[in-house]
Amino acid sequence: MKQVRWGIIGTGNIARRFASDFCYAKSGELRAIASRDKSSADAFSADFDIELAFVDYFSLINSHEVDVVYIATPHTSHYDLTKACLLAGKAVLCEKPLTLNAIQSKELYDLAAEKNIFLMEAMWTRFNPVIEQVIEWVEEGEIGELHSIQASFNFVAPTDPNHRLLDPKLGGGALLDIGIYPVFLAQLFFGKPDFIQNQAVIGDTEVDIFEQILLGWENGQLASLEASLISCNPNRATFSGSKGYIEIDSEWFKAKSCRMVSSEQQERVIEFDFPGEGYQFEVDEVNRCLIEGLQESPNHSRQDSLELIATLDEIRQDIGLSYPGEAEHDDHEEDIHDHHHEHHHHKH
Ligand SMILES: NC(=O)c1ccc[n+]([C@@H]2O[C@H](COP(=O)([O-])OP(=O)(O)OC[C@H]3O[C@@H](n4cnc5c(N)ncnc54)[C@H](OP(=O)(O)O)[C@@H]3O)[C@@H](O)[C@H]2O)c1
Repeated sequence: MKQVRWGIIGTGNIARRFASDFCYAKSGELRAIASRDKSSADAFSADFDIELAFVDYFSLINSHEVDVVYIATPHTSHYDLTKACLLAGKAVLCEKPLTLNAIQSKELYDLAAEKNIFLMEAMWTRFNPVIEQVIEWVEEGEIGELHSIQASFNFVAPTDPNHRLLDPKLGGGALLDIGIYPVFLAQLFFGKPDFIQNQAVIGDTEVDIFEQILLGWENGQLASLEASLISCNPNRATFSGSKGYIEIDSEWFKAKSCRMVSSEQQERVIEFDFPGEGYQFEVDEVNRCLIEGLQESPNHSRQDSLELIATLDEIRQDIGLSYPGEAEHDDHEEDIHDHHHEHHHHKH
């Protein structure tokens, strides 16, 4: 089987981390990099030994030497770039969130389906062996009935108001950047929630900088989640069951070990000895899907991705957070979302 040839768009923080781990993937070749800036493209291609360095994104998108494009640019550019790739016949792995809202994401998945091209949101944590292990323990009933999940993603972001994390024009805010992870984790085990409650703190740049989210399901399951750009936290995830619990230790979204304690107090710790941060696992998944001719990953599918962004839309609607250019969609969004939430909104 021929190697899948990858191109990366953007040379920022995540592009470099992804490229560093790429060599640990089972197969695939990093063939091309594109930057808006020549010196960034050249430096990236030298650092990661990439043959083709393009100084505009569209040359990469149209290159015949690229099979799949990894989009590693700010959230607000994901929609246009993914669409351009699909129209050029390229498979896409796009950074999270796939788009700013559910309407845009659905359009992209519909286009991918129409053209029979692979598209996946880069929810890399899904493919970490620790998450696979937790799924297995839960499915095998090791902790009995799973009743609740607690998870956080906090870090102290730069305070520069022009930084993408705080800039509304780049889709800034805690929810879309990091809150997406705990919401993803809860939905991975429980599906789309029936009830949503939020407390959010809005910062000086009018984006959310800190929030707690409580999700509920009709059958009594609960998830208690936190995302913050202003505070430190061990960022653990805990799964509470009727016969025991599972803990993923500090930085659960990129962890290399997990612990299960049954009600008989028997403890099992599993450690995974993989190199790098773990971005290689999403590369493996995309390669596998492309080689098997799949249009979506069964493990982070179109439906998983659409249900995730739909919940984020509901939370944003509840805390009154919209991004420039979204307003024209507001009436439509009112129609497509449920209203099972309580409104809490604080100004910082
Ligand atoms: N999976 C993860 O663990 C993870 C971690 C961090 C971020 N992310 C996601 O990855 C995306 C990028 O985040 P990042 O932290 O890598 O951001 P970053 O360091 O700011 O890099 C973004 C890159 O995008 C390109 N770009 C295109 N238009 C831009 C614009 N208007 N402003 C700034 N840069 C622009 C730039 O590359 P050129 O100058 O080369 O064109 C820039 O270096 C986000 O959607 C984020 O959610 C994922």
